[in-house]
Amino acid sequence: MTSEQLTSTAKSLVANDKGILAMDESNPTCNKRFAALGIPQTEAMRREYRELIVTTPGLAECINGAILYDETIRQQKSDGIPFAKALSEVGIIPGIKVDGGAKSLALHPGEKITEGLDGLRDRLAEYAAFGARFAKWRAVITIGDGIPSHGCIEANAQGLARYAALCQEAEIVPIVEPEVLMDGSHTLEQCRCVTAEVLSAVFHQLDVHGVILEGMILKPNMIVAGLKCSIQPSVDEVADATVNCFLRKVPAAVAGIAFLSGGQSAELATARLNAMNVRFKSRRPWPLAFSFARAIQQPAMEAWKGNKANVAAAQKALYERAISNVAARRGECKSGT
Ligand code: G3H
Repeated sequence: MTSEQLTSTAKSLVANDKGILAMDESNPTCNKRFAALGIPQTEAMRREYRELIVTTPGLAECINGAILYDETIRQQKSDGIPFAKALSEVGIIPGIKVDGGAKSLALHPGEKITEGLDGLRDRLAEYAAFGARFAKWRAVITIGDGIPSHGCIEANAQGLARYAALCQEAEIVPIVEPEVLMDGSHTLEQCRCVTAEVLSAVFHQLDVHGVILEGMILKPNMIVAGLKCSIQPSVDEVADATVNCFLRKVPAAVAGIAFLSGGQSAELATARLNAMNVRFKSRRPWPLAFSFARAIQQPAMEAWKGNKANVAAAQKALYERAISNVAARRGECKSGT
């Protein structure tokens, strides 16, 4: 794949007001969400749930790419067709989460470093053979007493850049995901300062490592107050804080910005994305898209509850969330949908 092809794939992931579906929960994360709803935490149930998603009628009207997990990219629908192939057949580009998860950062209490660079070149080749054309790596930054530290931000920024370079070498578009977590009592302004510092560090390292910005997608957090903060900003305040920060920190060459939802309710994540697209319609150099997991999937998982009889209702819930986010990209989403 040439840099033109990387660029073209990256553009396709955020084209036509559609988004990217994150269905890449690790087995422990997926099991945790199943457990909360009383769904058995088995490989067979995870496969059934992912089949429900992949076969949702109309999904390709809303979704350009779907991020799979290592287990999922090796699984098939009940008719034997691999999930990656089934997605491609309906026009959805398969992608893959390649990080090894966030682990405790040595000598930095309360902070994490994402691991998974060892052997990544070989894993990328294997995933490409399964049909993956893009990848995802998530780094997490926690706001708390005296954190994040410079060491944590720099280590994670370098990890993201080394991952992105390996992806582009392998002809795979990297989704670069530095997530400033919503946990805590920090204010909107604290989140803005930390997110700005993180984005500066990430784009510095991407530059140092020669990553082609036109051939990557940024998957950031929205700038919000911590879940325990007593002052919660309005939808418009979040939209303004987020896009104004990005206008200063994210180069215009980046192919697209596709937000994570991070634990916001499905409706709020959509309303905030909608407000960004309304308020910055003529001032944004990159598409403002979505790459939600919980904010698209949660209502569907709740409707399914592990019961075959609920598959159609769950697929309807999934489609409704996805199509609302397409409307949000157009700035045409009605509030509360
Ligand atoms: O890495 C996180 C997922 O790709 C996005 O998940 O929308 O539930 O935050 P989320």
